Amino acid sequence: MTEQHGVLQAGRLEEEVQVNNPLKIQDLTFRDGHQSLFATRGRTEDMIPIAEEMDKVGFFALEVWGGATFDATHRFLAEDPWERIRTLKKYITRTPFSMLLRGQNLVGYRNYADDVAEAFVERCCVNGIDVFRVFDALNDFRNFQTVVKVIKEQGRHFQGSICYSLTESKMGGEVYNLQYYLDKAKELEEMGADTICIKDMAGLIAPYDAYSLVKALKETVRVPIHLHSHFTSGMADMSMLKAIEAGVDIIDVCLSPWAYRTSHIGLEPLVAALQGTNRDTGFDLKQLTGCADHFNKISPKYRHLLDDRMSIIDTNVLLHQTPGGMLSNLVNQLREMDALDKLDQVFQELPRVRKELGQVPLVTPTSQIVGIQTVNNVLFDTPDERYKMITAQVKDLCFGLYGKTPAPIDPEVRKKALKGYPRGEKPITGRPADVLEPEMEKAREEVKDLARDIDDVLIYALYPTTGKRFLRWKYGLEEVPAECKPRTFEDVQEEQELVEKARKGMLQEKPVEHVPEKGPGLQSFNVFVDDEYYQVEVEMTGGGPVLTSISPQVREEAAKSAAPPETAVQPEKAKEKETKPEPAGTKAAPAEGTEVEAPMPGMIIRFEVQEGDEVGEGDPLLILEAMKMENSIDAPVSGRIKEIRFKDGDSVKKGDVMVVIG
Ligand code: CO
Repeated sequence: MTEQHGVLQAGRLEEEVQVNNPLKIQDLTFRDGHQSLFATRGRTEDMIPIAEEMDKVGFFALEVWGGATFDATHRFLAEDPWERIRTLKKYITRTPFSMLLRGQNLVGYRNYADDVAEAFVERCCVNGIDVFRVFDALNDFRNFQTVVKVIKEQGRHFQGSICYSLTESKMGGEVYNLQYYLDKAKELEEMGADTICIKDMAGLIAPYDAYSLVKALKETVRVPIHLHSHFTSGMADMSMLKAIEAGVDIIDVCLSPWAYRTSHIGLEPLVAALQGTNRDTGFDLKQLTGCADHFNKISPKYRHLLDDRMSIIDTNVLLHQTPGGMLSNLVNQLREMDALDKLDQVFQELPRVRKELGQVPLVTPTSQIVGIQTVNNVLFDTPDERYKMITAQVKDLCFGLYGKTPAPIDPEVRKKALKGYPRGEKPITGRPADVLEPEMEKAREEVKDLARDIDDVLIYALYPTTGKRFLRWKYGLEEVPAECKPRTFEDVQEEQELVEKARKGMLQEKPVEHVPEKGPGLQSFNVFVDDEYYQVEVEMTGGGPVLTSISPQVREEAAKSAAPPETAVQPEKAKEKETKPEPAGTKAAPAEGTEVEAPMPGMIIRFEVQEGDEVGEGDPLLILEAMKMENSIDAPVSGRIKEIRFKDGDSVKKGDVMVVIG
């Protein structure tokens, strides 16, 4: 009997098999690998030394770019996102470059106007992207139309993606059943997809579901099928193997040092497992080990970003189908609000919110939209009122600005969200970008003093606040803050030496009068000395604040009550007043009026009012970005704006007084 798959019998291959269908491999080490493990903080300088070797492997494509890359490079690394592609292209000349494109969201968190989308995709092509993996968080492919047109015009590869999601714990049920995926695949084929990707961003796909799905897809569409998954739940290598047996054409992997955990399956064991079968990749295992060595060598620079739990899998994904990244966002958000004890409530509320918001797949940006709204509901709702604080993004979703949700949005929630919504209270049903005004000219005009080329303009058009800041760094108008600079091996070594000294009792103890509060820049390090293990928390002091979000709370000022002012003035608030000297002899007294505090840490996107303005109760005062979601902070009372204590772009802590209404 001829074994088509080269099945092992009695420990050896029964016969030489013909490699008639080699598995194609896309490597994600340069993008999703470090995005998953190290919050996308991988730097170009650490990729260059291995780039030429990676080019020799024989990958279908190297994924080098994506939404989070664009964001993290310019926001946290002070690197020009475009330069990343151009630099790598100098070293990698044979292997195509792929990127992840969020449909009409491009590499941002909202739908951009068609003129931005067209300019952006064109610039991606010119800068060196060959394969575009396009997805839409709602699987609404109308959001592909504009970008696909440009991809095709430019003669590039269009990989249409379907976000893999579940209604319950396995494929099937009301929304996300086999037929759903087959219909979506047919739709993509009709749109001209060169390949179709099942994008399992949360590592949800179970091995036998992967088998049935790939098998059915191969029978339904002609274009090659590509499977993307994450190891998060621990199922991915089993699922990939079943998909390979079912005939999947291409799969995604990482080199082992940056594989596993919330990242992808490791390449080397897969190559070994398929050797001698008809799906043999033909890769040289020894050469791959050389590539992996490089990543082992540079990884100490990133180790502090790695989740330090013992388990490399996350059973919460199996239990709650919550993507790993979303879970860590939820935990961070709760921690910033001092509400980590509410995590269980969040898990309970999450499926309910998701259902009410149209059973959306949980992927950027819908995972954040659902996640943050859930946290808002848990923190701010009262027994007789739900959805008390609705984010701007949920309002947009209810209006139809993201597209059509897989299931209808709850009418009650929709009505509440759209009350007073500036674009109107009646939702749209057409292609979302059809209602968007062109944006490029405005962006060009706004950034004309800073931007030197179209790529600069696009950085600003996509990320106005952080993009503008980046351009100021890029052209030396503002110093790059310390926390954006690369971490060197010397930094790592210094820390290790310090810990070692401490362990040997060689550090002089000084009497400590005041232990500062742990701040947001705190990083936790695992330190291993021989067989002993220490956890050390390190925070850089003197650097700029790294908070990215705020939210307000309202408190009637003590001045209105009989309490002496001292009780209402906290030390840091008194300090703030130092910049505004009071007449001699008087103490810093609280402003008379209603203080509007940040209900959560965040960054002020913009103030909607100026000092002296009259506002009515419920009028928006400012937009506060927290966890990348915009929250409108509204006036709790009517009155005159007496004082504005921050400016656009400032970061605020929870409880900071942002506005005083007199
Ligand atoms: Co992914």
